[in-house]
Amino acid sequence: LATTETGSRLSHLSCRACCTDLPSDRPAGVCPTCGGALLAEYDLGAFDARAWWHGLRDRDRTLWRYRELLPVADDRHLVTLGEGGSPILELTPSSDDGIRLLAKDDGGLPTGSFKARGMAVAVSRCVELGRTDLFVPSAGNAALALAAYGARAHRRVRVYVPDGTLPTLIASCRAYGAEVRTRPGTLREVGAAARTEEQGSGGFDLSTLREPYRVEGKKTMGLEIVDQTGPNGVPDAIVYPTGGGTGLVGMHRAFELLRSVGLLERIPRLYAVQPEGCAPVVRALRDDSPRVDPWADPHTIAPGLLVPAPFASERILEAVRATRGAGVTVSDRAIVESMRRLQREHGLSVSPEAAAPYAAVSELLRTRAVRPGETVLLYLTGTGLPFSIDALDAALGPGDQTRT
Ligand SMILES: Cc1ncc(COP(=O)(O)O)c(C=O)c1O
Ligand SMILES: [Zn+2]
Repeated sequence: LATTETGSRLSHLSCRACCTDLPSDRPAGVCPTCGGALLAEYDLGAFDARAWWHGLRDRDRTLWRYRELLPVADDRHLVTLGEGGSPILELTPSSDDGIRLLAKDDGGLPTGSFKARGMAVAVSRCVELGRTDLFVPSAGNAALALAAYGARAHRRVRVYVPDGTLPTLIASCRAYGAEVRTRPGTLREVGAAARTEEQGSGGFDLSTLREPYRVEGKKTMGLEIVDQTGPNGVPDAIVYPTGGGTGLVGMHRAFELLRSVGLLERIPRLYAVQPEGCAPVVRALRDDSPRVDPWADPHTIAPGLLVPAPFASERILEAVRATRGAGVTVSDRAIVESMRRLQREHGLSVSPEAAAPYAAVSELLRTRAVRPGETVLLYLTGTGLPFSIDALDAALGPGDQTRT
């Protein structure tokens, strides 16, 4: 290897929906044949997985420790703010339900959410493939992450966010030098507006699953869990707040990858948590639907979970079904109450999305989806720092507050 090569095993891109393969050495968005999601494929033929796994212990803790299984080919293209390596914490005192509760907290990542993982990898690939002008529609956190990584990589960035996005978040995007365009509606309408306005602009669309590399960054959530717990200690279940679904797709890819090279035997069950007011993925899982139908009249206080029509939903459903997980809904009230409890009882300040998995635990126990003796990992996707719990509580409306 030349000294600047990462050793990435990336071989090509492929569309699962129509079996189209594409070279990975040029920029790509969605599948040119069917418009579906393109995913990265790796050549692991001569990959010595055990030696690689063993060698991880000498590497730094960022997600680039997994660089052979990530798509960036040249070190000089890495755009990093030190993302990855978030802690897995015991949630003590453990409940008397007989389950062991763990939390992986991505709130301390650059820009305060797990979105840093996806954007670090996607923006690095934009640098590698010569993309200079980038845009993303986002509920907020992906916009902030793109603004930061775009600044670091000296790219032009436009972000499209819903009207009503936290003013501090918008100001922060602008401080990174991004142009912020607020548009009405949920991510569905904002995304449609962005793609219409950007036609012919030359801007590259970094929307969830509409380019192949953000999900590769999300894959590191799964790689890291196995890395940190050890292959024999992986949790029985992972509970994940689901909006666009990249996290589920990414973790599933990680576990399948590790299993395919003989490093993992037992794959955790993946549980998708959504708010009662916007639960298209949970509904599709319960109805055994092949895809996710748009959710009418969506509403929730968790901005990142207000995704009424996720793209490439077959991949999301596949991740949950293949791991024998399920979907579960939680009320906004329970989300706010969980924010309070995580902060007061566990010292964890989390965003509303990140509180949703905690809110789901009682329902998972009640339905016996998780059982005594099992280890359950809650994925805490973002920091609570920009949020006021009291303001969220007040927004729930009379009679629905968490404080009596
Ligand atoms: C904090 C947080 N958690 C979860 C999600 C949902 O993520 P995913 O697209 O992986 O379903 C988002 C998306 O905006 C988010 O910002
Ligand atoms: Zn296709």
